[in-house]
Amino acid sequence: MLIRETQLADLPELFRVRAATRENALSVDYLATLGITPESAARSMASGESRGWLCEIDGRIVGFASGDRSSGEMLVLAVLPEYEGRGIGRALLQRVRDWLADCGCPRVWLAANPDPAGRAHGFYRRCGWQPLGEYSNGDEILIYRGEHS
Ligand SMILES: CC(C)(COP(=O)(O)OP(=O)(O)OC[C@H]1O[C@@H](n2cnc3c(N)ncnc32)[C@H](O)[C@@H]1OP(=O)(O)O)[C@@H](O)C(=O)NCCC(=O)NCCS
Repeated sequence: MLIRETQLADLPELFRVRAATRENALSVDYLATLGITPESAARSMASGESRGWLCEIDGRIVGFASGDRSSGEMLVLAVLPEYEGRGIGRALLQRVRDWLADCGCPRVWLAANPDPAGRAHGFYRRCGWQPLGEYSNGDEILIYRGEHS
């Protein structure tokens, strides 16, 4: 398993991964309606505003995450279905969170599906993220509070 920083050339494949998750899948076409495309992601990366990391196994991209230093938002986290449950989501989340913290973002946050039946719901809480009681477009806002055993 290799965790490495996302390069511009990876972006089209990352959009395919985002469309292929078991839950909360987002298609290329849907993201385009929000103005999120490989081109817009490339502009954001090239400006230094966003950075991301990905996980490769046997040369295949199986998960990725990215964040935006101007807002402190964890923008995306996705792991392919057959690679869930191996610690990949945790490792990618931590890598982006560390970068946002190093950037001095006063608030590191993310917006997530609030459905308690979804894997992401328990996953984020297990990784130390807690809801603020705020919602945005139906997603709940979580901030990192640290893990307590
Ligand atoms: C949510 C997602 C990123 C999790 O990735 P993952 O690689 O399967 O998660 P990990 O294996 O790293 O799990 C990390 C920890 O969370 C725990 N965990 C995961 N899901 C959990 C749940 N529903 N409830 C409680 N704990 C959970 C794991 O047991 C693990 O605990 P440990 O580190 O103490 O052993 C992945 O399932 C995914 O991509 N889902 C689809 C896309 C998505 O929903 N993204 C988020 C959009 S808001």
